[in-house]
Amino acid sequence: MTLNIRPDIAELEESKIVEVWRMGFDIPDVIGMWVGQGDLPTPRFICDAAARALAAGDTFYTHKRGIPELRQALIDYHRDLYGVEIADSRIAITSSGMNAMMLIVQTLVSAGDNIVCVTPVWPNIFAAIQIQGGIARHVPMTGTDHGWELDLDRLFAACDDRTRAVYLASPGNPTGWMMPEQQRRAVLDFARSRGIALIADEVYNRLIYDRRVAPSFLEIARPDDPLFVVNSFSKTWAMTGWRVGWIVLPEGLTDQVDRLIEFNTSGGQSFLQAGCVAAIREGEPWVKWMVERCKRGRDLVLARLSAMNRVSVIPADASFYLMLRVEEMGDPVEFCKRLVREARIGLAPGTAFGAGGESYLRLCYAQGEERLDEAMDRLESFLRQN
Ligand SMILES: Cc1ncc(COP(=O)(O)O)c(C=O)c1O
Repeated sequence: MTLNIRPDIAELEESKIVEVWRMGFDIPDVIGMWVGQGDLPTPRFICDAAARALAAGDTFYTHKRGIPELRQALIDYHRDLYGVEIADSRIAITSSGMNAMMLIVQTLVSAGDNIVCVTPVWPNIFAAIQIQGGIARHVPMTGTDHGWELDLDRLFAACDDRTRAVYLASPGNPTGWMMPEQQRRAVLDFARSRGIALIADEVYNRLIYDRRVAPSFLEIARPDDPLFVVNSFSKTWAMTGWRVGWIVLPEGLTDQVDRLIEFNTSGGQSFLQAGCVAAIREGEPWVKWMVERCKRGRDLVLARLSAMNRVSVIPADASFYLMLRVEEMGDPVEFCKRLVREARIGLAPGTAFGAGGESYLRLCYAQGEERLDEAMDRLESFLRQN
């Protein structure tokens, strides 16, 4: 039987990262640095809080925008991090950062509309737009010896009267790029004046090595600005498998988003949210420790890669990724597959991340130093032989 499904859905491509990652399922000794997560399980105190709630019978439908205790914890968290007061009506707990993005795209995009994305970036945003019948426009940054650079004029020129939003991740995946202050203000002004939404993906806001938290659009925006800030429990508290995130919404959208949550998931799991309250309220020592560990990983990998022949790497002070380039590597997907088979290491091809990423590889260094050192030995010896 051939079933007629929507062409947009039939055309959804498998992620290039997954294509390479899948190869490694049957090879036990691969050191995987391909996926966007660390090697640590969720800290015990967070699991215990969720387990207690589950055992206590916290198993019913709950508030669509999340349990009040978690919304309050997030209000306190934003005040502590940025000195800003966020109204409860602007917070929506979502079933992951991915789900947050989907809800925002559903809110904004009709068929034929577009969202302008600063790339290279986390590719799931492109799929979210495609699923809604929209078009993802890529505005590539340029990789330089000292970091990634965005040409704002190019970003603004990519917007037209069908543009519903600008999407950017700062700190960025896969680049670790952080949008400079002046650009943040200019983009926000542009969004205000054009009535275009700004989707600020701040999922990596705590993965930063020279201060406690990355700059946020929340520090410069007004409550009525067309700003959606997306965050997630996945990266900061090692909770990728929990699937919980949140959005700080523009004022006035509470009811619409409440309704959309009803028809997408009807709200998240309340016992998981009890774990999230513990993450926010008690998690700071853990975050500090985890970020210091990531920094050691970053320093190690950066030093090792910089010393390798044929390799150039773009430095970054945030996120847990580095982008590197290998001279004469040919097609990055094929090269990554060879690295899995022959060197037993897993990297993600830059082609996965949209325009500007094509000639790079992404490496996630959120692992112990011994394993990273071993991975660098393997890469070095592969490059020597090939
Ligand atoms: C930039 C960015 N945004 C959002 C997400 C979504 O995170 P999650 O769906 O695990 O909450 C990711 C995950 O890799 C990401 O890298």
